[in-house]
Amino acid sequence: MTELSAFVTGADRGLGMGLTKVLLERGFRVFAGEFGLDPMGLNEIAQEYGSRLRRIPLDVSSDVSVMRAADKVREGCTSLDILINNAGILGDYTATLSDPMDFSQMLQVYNVNAVGPLRVAQALFGHLCKGSLKKLINISSEAGSMEQSRRIDRTARYGYCMSKSALNVETVILANHARRQGVEVYLIDPGWVRTYMHGELNVDAAQEPYDTALDILATVLDRPKPEYLYMTHRGERYDW
Ligand SMILES: NC(=O)c1ccc[n+]([C@@H]2O[C@H](COP(=O)([O-])OP(=O)(O)OC[C@H]3O[C@@H](n4cnc5c(N)ncnc54)[C@H](OP(=O)(O)O)[C@@H]3O)[C@@H](O)[C@H]2O)c1
Repeated sequence: MTELSAFVTGADRGLGMGLTKVLLERGFRVFAGEFGLDPMGLNEIAQEYGSRLRRIPLDVSSDVSVMRAADKVREGCTSLDILINNAGILGDYTATLSDPMDFSQMLQVYNVNAVGPLRVAQALFGHLCKGSLKKLINISSEAGSMEQSRRIDRTARYGYCMSKSALNVETVILANHARRQGVEVYLIDPGWVRTYMHGELNVDAAQEPYDTALDILATVLDRPKPEYLYMTHRGERYDW
């Protein structure tokens, strides 16, 4: 049987590393997009899984970096089965309208979280269409839900929420195109995960990255695709 292949962005740590590990455990060849600030976690996984893990330098905010990474994926496998757009940054999450705002940082958050997934999807869509599973997963957030920001009376986190809402509508448009090519698209809020989004490990968060990755991949690989697009890590419908 041909080996299945997956590509994960932002695999250095956090949820991306959890997804990489679970995919390797499930027998996939994994191309791990590595931003590169902390190589330790992927070093450990590499020892266990050898050549089934291929590390690829990737900055999703750069056209050139995404092109180079896509070339390396195409060199390394004849088709891609799963593409996971996971890389993301938080930016400032405290400023309200009454505080100073760093708009250039906000644009970088938008570049990484919203434009980045589209760059990667476009660069590898042809290769994904050749795969046998044909699954594209965009990791969003509750922050992308307009209903959630209204419900919790949110007054800060402009950049991150705006970027994730942009990712959400982008995913709707992308899914319309992908459906015509037989590619299934998932838009997933992973929940509150113990990762490094705030710059250091968030020990207060409710979920481990590995357990969250198990749930996400069970939702995507082991169950029928729900008719809705925006869902939790366990596959329950999420409000737009
Ligand atoms: N943690 C949560 O509670 C939570 C909740 C909702 C949604 N999410 C989403 O889950 C996804 C994963 O985040 P996380 O929680 O695992 O955070 P994380 O621990 O900070 O991981 C983010 C990953 O993205 C990488 N990255 C940063 N900038 C990048 C760039 N320009 N190009 C490529 N990769 C880049 C980081 O690399 P370095 O480590 O080298 O910086 C890291 O590997 C994000 O899309 C996030 O929005 C997380």
